[in-house]
Formats: sequence, structure tokens, C-alpha cells
Amino acid sequence: MSEAVQTSSAFTPRVFSGIQPSGGLTLGNYLGAMKRFVDTQNTGVQSIYCMVDQHAITVWQDPENLRRATRELCAGYIASGLDPEKSILFNQSQVPEHAQLGWIFNCVARMGWMQRMTQWKDKAGKNSQNASLGLFAYPALMAADILVYHATHVPVGEDQKQHVELTRDIATKFNHDYKVDFFPIPEPVIEGTATRVMSLRDGSKKMSKSDPSDASRINLTDDADTIAKKIRKAKTDPEALPSDVEGLEGRSEARNLVNIYAALSETSVDAVLAEIGGKQFSEFKPLLADLAVDKLAPISTEMARLMEDAAEIDKILARGAERAREIAAPILKETYKIVGMVGA
Ligand code: AMP
Ligand code: TRP
Repeated sequence: MSEAVQTSSAFTPRVFSGIQPSGGLTLGNYLGAMKRFVDTQNTGVQSIYCMVDQHAITVWQDPENLRRATRELCAGYIASGLDPEKSILFNQSQVPEHAQLGWIFNCVARMGWMQRMTQWKDKAGKNSQNASLGLFAYPALMAADILVYHATHVPVGEDQKQHVELTRDIATKFNHDYKVDFFPIPEPVIEGTATRVMSLRDGSKKMSKSDPSDASRINLTDDADTIAKKIRKAKTDPEALPSDVEGLEGRSEARNLVNIYAALSETSVDAVLAEIGGKQFSEFKPLLADLAVDKLAPISTEMARLMEDAAEIDKILARGAERAREIAAPILKETYKIVGMVGA
């Protein structure tokens, strides 16, 4: 990450990323996003992390659940190691500049671009006529999230790469149409061994909070016993573990568990295989379960503690929103000027 942040563009490096408060957090969110946010924060680059509640409501959210999930996500960020003083931590709807710039980007982005988005196709499914207009426009709001801060780097999991590429297209078209060099062309940062954590029940599917099977994922709120049980029951194949990466070819479940082990222990897949190559899953799974409990149980305990004081979480979010607006407001104002809006 630090290397990536040092390269690219004339803009000051600034990191932005977001997670939807649309239910529980999974090991996929933790390894693919949150843990990497913490690593980035500790490189000293200005980092801005958002709970994207306006993205969450592109599909139905029960209001009470949304409120709870937003606070829980904030608790999850902090319990994972984000420091709300070092990073800016806030909720999207409390910074209206996102939606305001999002509207302008709705007018820059083309229908055809949106129609190509795989997340749109997956989520809208066969009944796309009945999907919300917000779900279709979702990537334009995501572009606004990033560009309203002139962010240059966007750490995300593999599934979000296409959306960051669309953000680049929007920034490029805006700069071109208005003959300015105003928005940076942000880079997706997708690195590490866990940018795509797979389901524990099916190595071809992404681990997701929306999977109907709870056994398919590890939730950050799972207790130690549940974590250990889910790992013990994870789908595997009958072979022993290989000693090199080539040996994981065509073995998606084995690859997934090894990747998780490498990411949690902060080593490479090669190093893990050197250690566990030749072992049976019956020997490897307890090692993985111990490691997962060791790393995740403290996060779940700390989340539960933070969730006891909703008022404190709301205070952190309000302060974060204030700091975020200090950056976003002048960038939006300048955008309005470029576009020709009177009063800006
Ligand atoms: P979401 O929960 O869909 O808002 O995703 C928030 C962040 O977590 C995004 O950066 C995703 O790419 C990342 N993420 C979600 N699920 C996974 C997964 N199974 N593996 C890796 N990253 C993930
Ligand atoms: N679309 C992202 C997801 O579903 C969440 C998101 C919204 C995001 N805005 C963002 C991620 C801006 C990175 C940057 O996971």
C-alpha cells in the first residue's frame, strides 16, 4: 500500500474507502477492507473511511436495522484498529456534498456504462425493471464519495474494481468536457492475499453478508466457539495440503483457507505452505481456528463494548462528518463553479 500511495498523479495522496451498513460484517470485509484500512492509516497518509448508508438504501433497509448497522459498522472500524482521530470516520448521509456531487455525476455518466456493471446485473437480477433507480445510479454516487475528497487511492476488495474504474471514467469525462484538470484519476488498491475471501461452503462464491447460509461466513460478531465450529465444518477436499502454490490449482476451498491463514498471520501463502504442506485438513483446521479466534475474538468483544454506548458512537460520527465536510465543501463549490451554477 505505502508504495502504491507514493506513486501516481500530481494530487496529494489521499485514501478513501467505504463499506455499506447493510447487515453484519464478515471476515471478507475485515480482511478485504478493514484490516487494510488500518495498515494504510498507519502509513500516515490522510485516510477517510465512510459508512455508506445512502448506498445501503438502494435496496430495502429496515430503518431501525439501518441505524443499528451503521453504529455497528462504526464500532467495527474502531475495534479493528481505526483511530477516529488519525483517520476521518463518518457516515455518508451526514455529509450532503456526496449526494450533491453524485447528482452532477449522474449527468456525466452514461446509461451504457452503468448497464455494464456486474454488481448491477447481479443485484438487479432478472427483474431489473423493478430495481430502484438508486441501485442503477449507485456507481455515480460511489464516484462522488471518492472524488468529493480528491482521493487518489481506493483500497477495496476485488469485487469493487469495476466501480473504481468507472470512477476513473467519470473523472476523465468531467475533466475533458469542462476542459479542466480538476479531478484526480484515482487508483484502486487491491493487494494482499485476501482481496477475495470465499464462502466456507462453496469455494466459487464470495463470502458475503447476504448469503442465506450463516455457516458460509464468519461474522465479526461470532463468538470463539462459533468461529471454531464454522472452520471445522468448512468444505474441503480429501487431499493433503500442498507444499507450493501450484498445488492449490483447481482446489478453491483449500486455496481459500490457506489465503485466510496467510492474511490473518500476515505472512505470504508460500510461507504458510512451507509450514503446513503435507498436513491433512484435520490438522490444519484447528490451527486456522485458533488463529482466527485469536485475531477476531478481541474485535468482537470490543465491538460489543462500543455498542453499549450509542451516544459516544454518534458523537464520533458527528465529529467525523464535520472534518469530512471541511474537505468536501470547497471541492463541491469549485465543481459548481466549473459547471456554471450561479451562487457558487
Ligand atoms: P460491502 O460489505 O459490500 O460494502 O463491502 C465493503 C468492502 O469489503 C469492499 O471493499 C469489498 O470489496 C470488501 N469485501 C466484501 N466482501 C469481501 C470478500 N468476501 N473478500 C474480500 N473483500 C470483501
Ligand atoms: N460499493 C462499495 C461496496 O459495495 C461500497 C462503497 C461505496 C465504496 N462508496 C465507496 C467503496 C467508495 C470504496 C469507495 O463494497
